[in-house]
Amino acid sequence: MTIHLHRVAALTAALIMGAGSLAACGANDDDSDNDSGGDDTASGGTIALLLPESKTTRYEAFDKPLFEAKVAELCPDCEVDYYNADQDEQKQAQQLTSALTAGAGVVVLDPVNGAGATGMVQEAQSQDVPVIAYDRFIEGADYYMSFDNETVGKMQAEALVEAVGDKGDILMLNGAPSDPNAAQFKAGAHSVLDSSGVTVLEEYDNPDWSPENAQQWTTDQLSKYDPSEIVGVYAANDGQAGGVVAALTGAGVARNQLPPVTGQDAEVAAIQRILAGEQAMTIYKPIAIEAETAAEVAVQLVNGEEPGTTSDTGVDQSDFEGVTSYIFDPIVVTQDNVADTVVADGFYTPEDICTGDYVKACEEAGIS
Ligand code: GAL
Repeated sequence: MTIHLHRVAALTAALIMGAGSLAACGANDDDSDNDSGGDDTASGGTIALLLPESKTTRYEAFDKPLFEAKVAELCPDCEVDYYNADQDEQKQAQQLTSALTAGAGVVVLDPVNGAGATGMVQEAQSQDVPVIAYDRFIEGADYYMSFDNETVGKMQAEALVEAVGDKGDILMLNGAPSDPNAAQFKAGAHSVLDSSGVTVLEEYDNPDWSPENAQQWTTDQLSKYDPSEIVGVYAANDGQAGGVVAALTGAGVARNQLPPVTGQDAEVAAIQRILAGEQAMTIYKPIAIEAETAAEVAVQLVNGEEPGTTSDTGVDQSDFEGVTSYIFDPIVVTQDNVADTVVADGFYTPEDICTGDYVKACEEAGIS
């Protein structure tokens, strides 16, 4: 159950965070008399960052570099020890043990399997190493940060219901059951779909979020149903949306006849499809605010400080399932607001998006 979430308008909060945060983060408060003075950055320490996979572009293109840059800015003597689990739970458990052996003072963990990661949290905590559950919730973690995942699912479903005119049969592709966010996206989406005029014809929980599985499953459905029966597709993320579009075109649907397909993560390929009219929407998560908040909290913890409330971090703490949390707002992106969101925000430059086949669609959307 979600208790009393304070939400932050992510775009504005990103601006707030830039100014003056951690100004009070001198090392080791109790011997501040002996500080040489004038230095308002933190002392040192190793921060382990464990991310779950690399097929979804966000992790290595945004989360990792943004986190590392913020740590370097706040604590030049801190080190980030980075691991990617490639969607392998056991590999991630070994990576945690390695990180602890290598001297991590705090662990930032985005678990492959949320429920299965409680043991990893306990392993770290038994060595007095606090754990930040990054993006995906882990019971017993010291801190948690994420976007409001149930709202993500609601926003996707609302956009789809609207795009299909609130009637007809859809396919539904959810995320990996091991990912706690996937359950939240799915619950949020169902809360809208189940009381709409749309019928979910078939539903799939993709075991690893992969575009390949999404394509295969959709291809299988298209051997049972005529593509013309499918008025829309709920895909929980952009990787799967790409697989769905490949399956539909593979089954002979023309690119300009595709039904509305949803997504999430604002991957560049999805933004291009949106501009070209091949995907209805995506969810943009301004990852800087999440990665930078994680970096701030991690630096405070590695220096033995209590992560603060708004005044220290620039964003509000809240409570999610009993864990101190920072929850940010997702943003819907459609053809109409690509320019005002991911481009205006600097998430992508026009050059990133307007390549090859997409130059014309960019011009039409006023992006250049
Ligand atoms: C989720 C994450 C999403 C997305 C998804 C895979 O856990 O919150 O942003 O990356 O995994 O696409």
